[in-house]
Amino acid sequence: MRRAVALAARGLGHTSPNPVVGCVILDAGGQPVGEGWHQRAGGPHAEVHALRAAGERARGGTALVTLEPCNHTGRTGPCAQALIDAGVARVRYAVADPTAQARGGAATLAAARVDVAAGPVADESEAVNEAWLTAMRRGRPFVLWKYAATLDGRSAAADGTSRWITSSAARADVHRLRAEADAVAVGSGTLRADDPHLAVRDREGATQPLRVAVDTNATALKPGARILDDAAPTLVAVAEDADTGQLPPGTETVRLPRSTTGPGLDVAALLAALHGRGVRSVLLEGGPTLAGAFLAAGVVDKVVGYLAPVLLGAGPAVLADAGITTIAQALRLDTADVTRLGPDLCITAVPVAPTTTLAEEN
Ligand SMILES: NC(=O)c1ccc[n+]([C@@H]2O[C@H](COP(=O)([O-])OP(=O)(O)OC[C@H]3O[C@@H](n4cnc5c(N)ncnc54)[C@H](OP(=O)(O)O)[C@@H]3O)[C@@H](O)[C@H]2O)c1
Repeated sequence: MRRAVALAARGLGHTSPNPVVGCVILDAGGQPVGEGWHQRAGGPHAEVHALRAAGERARGGTALVTLEPCNHTGRTGPCAQALIDAGVARVRYAVADPTAQARGGAATLAAARVDVAAGPVADESEAVNEAWLTAMRRGRPFVLWKYAATLDGRSAAADGTSRWITSSAARADVHRLRAEADAVAVGSGTLRADDPHLAVRDREGATQPLRVAVDTNATALKPGARILDDAAPTLVAVAEDADTGQLPPGTETVRLPRSTTGPGLDVAALLAALHGRGVRSVLLEGGPTLAGAFLAAGVVDKVVGYLAPVLLGAGPAVLADAGITTIAQALRLDTADVTRLGPDLCITAVPVAPTTTLAEEN
């Protein structure tokens, strides 16, 4: 199953709105005879790739799959039936399918007298699919907030200069996060200050994410803004009443309600709009104000902080108001990973308390 998890990971960034899935087929004697992973939405599922590779050797064998085989006919046929047709005798799946549409594969297999059970390596299978599983369970995209900061928590110097706080190794790692995300979002403050590009660079075969500019009044983006080039698709989120006349012709926009609790757009409405477009994971690249609004809304599922051994003493903090006024309200995180990248530290942390579903928020 660990091999199946590694195969699933190859699909990260390419399969939305579908999950990543890996599958290994063992023959009746327990030898691996086929493997596969879901490579892109609309393409064959992991089980189908693995069964094709195994051919007749799958008969009487075992399928190890990271996610419960699907039971529905979408753009491809149901995998549960494909496993039955191939004569597979045993199926072990690591994580149950949480969607009403596809679940039931295990029951279909059991009804066909296949020995089927929820299997091993559930934690790692959950982890590789955390974006999609979170999106299905919460009814909104998985949100990863990424930031770069000095050791004293500054995102820029007092004069606004911020290039570069972190090392090239840390900045290269950000391209990995972008390549795995369906969308990359920034607020109008960052658009004005940095003119960010937000596309993936130097990662062969990467699927470019949707670049999302959260520009309430459509005033931050000027013609020639780097985010509007053709390196990746771009969506500009504006208020329902915004005058978009200043945006270059052809710019794709989505009109959303304004927030009723603070500045800018309604965060839940933004996430719902992205979810509706098949976005299952959002990399939130800031800045501090938009990150504060996402955290206050309880929709940040993971935090990746790149900490540079640099001190500034003055300058904006990496996080602005997140609705926290007293220590008892502090957002506590579990540290999931600490990695050294050149001179910098990359800290991955996950909120201790469950994050919010869209329904709860509204
Ligand atoms: N170190 C890092 O990792 C990092 C990352 C990104 C940016 N930065 C730095 O951050 C600075 C910009 O900071 P910033 O806080 O102004 O940028 P920001 O968070 O990108 O933009 C804030 C703006 O986004 C708009 N917005 C739309 N919806 C919002 C909502 N629901 N809640 C809050 N704001 C919403 C608001 O302006 P409108 O309503 O007018 O649209 C708001 O003023 C720059 O110096 C940049 O270099 C640092």
